Amino acid sequence: MAYTTVLHCRECGREYPQEPINVCDFCFGPLEVVYDYEAIGKVMSRESIQAGPHSMWRYAELLPVSAENRVDLNAGFTPLIRAKNLANHLGLDELYLKNDCVNPSYSFKDRVVSVAATKALEFGFDTLACASTGNLACAVAAHAARAGMRSYVFIPADLEKGKVVGAAVYGPTVVAVHGTYDDVNRLCSEMADNYGWAFVNINMRPYYSEGSKTLAYEVAEQLGWRAPKHAVVPGASGSMFTKIWKGLNEFANLGFIDPVETRMHLAQAEGCSPIATAAQAGTTTIRPVKPSTIAKSLAIGNPADGYYAVRVIEDSQGSAVIVSEEEVTEGMKLLAETEGIFAETAGGVTVSGLRRLVSEGVIKRGDLTVAYITGNGLKTQEVVEDAVRPVFIEPTVEAFEKAMAVRS
Ligand SMILES: Cc1ncc(COP(=O)(O)O)c(C=O)c1O
Ligand SMILES: [Zn+2]
Repeated sequence: MAYTTVLHCRECGREYPQEPINVCDFCFGPLEVVYDYEAIGKVMSRESIQAGPHSMWRYAELLPVSAENRVDLNAGFTPLIRAKNLANHLGLDELYLKNDCVNPSYSFKDRVVSVAATKALEFGFDTLACASTGNLACAVAAHAARAGMRSYVFIPADLEKGKVVGAAVYGPTVVAVHGTYDDVNRLCSEMADNYGWAFVNINMRPYYSEGSKTLAYEVAEQLGWRAPKHAVVPGASGSMFTKIWKGLNEFANLGFIDPVETRMHLAQAEGCSPIATAAQAGTTTIRPVKPSTIAKSLAIGNPADGYYAVRVIEDSQGSAVIVSEEEVTEGMKLLAETEGIFAETAGGVTVSGLRRLVSEGVIKRGDLTVAYITGNGLKTQEVVEDAVRPVFIEPTVEAFEKAMAVRS
């Protein structure tokens, strides 16, 4: 069973039954699921969690679905890696990387889609759909295949090949829209009411977004039941960022960790930084932008949760960091060369954002820090192609030695 009671509007508080809806009829505020935390507190404990599956579903009570018939590709419970080399390079003592590159379809989006697909089946849908900057399309197509559902994934036509192939291979209908993600999202929002499909990030959004909370639970558990001093997180719509904060606080309220003092830092790339720009200007009013960035997974110009993300920055005494387009690939290479993790552009944004936060003194040497690496670099190979400089030789030892002599 699910431990949720109703949906409520984040703005006016009006309550709604748990249906495939995401916006308040009265004030257009976003809807959010409400949990019965008292009931959860009676059945959930550190011990019960530790006895659960080695996936995000070990936290099932805090997800808005009945876990029995879950659509499960084993997303989550990804490694939290102590990053000594990168820490030394940056001047930190205790740095951890949450490596969500190794999820089933190679990004954190498997977490949100596992929840959304499960809820979609509960509601009786037979078709899963999404508006995506790439990774979501992969996760939706994969989970739909697993669930025996049809899927339609809508993407901007100029996405990286690794994202398109990484979605198409599971057999969805791929709809490549001539426009930005924001155009794609508007189109899907127009369609969501009429098609009878579960659009995971539109009419299923209140359920879907909760899946990101598991990124907080896992880190807290993996750190030995404590929250980090700093979390550095890449942002597009801002949803994951807000849900990591929510998840940490839920854990504290349930008594699994001490009250949360984590400072939440949101990282974006210069070519699309509407949330970070607002936060740095000290306003919650997000001015939409037309994205022009190589961090295509983060290219949302009109972020749905931007306002709430800025509020989280304020509430947690965090900050926003904007990295240049060059720093995106520099960050990817630094991560790969120091820690052996090949992350996509979003990871480059996170690592370069982290580097800036350390150099600006926001994050201090002794601070326990977690950086979220949310997607796999094999999907965005083209941006680091200049790393490919093989030494071409004939198949002889002499040729090899000659080539090495020239090189050194
Ligand atoms: C790899 C990766 N990281 C981070 C994000 C940001 O997610 P959100 O829209 O929840 O801010 C995305 C969004 O697509 C993504 O693909
Ligand atoms: Zn409302």
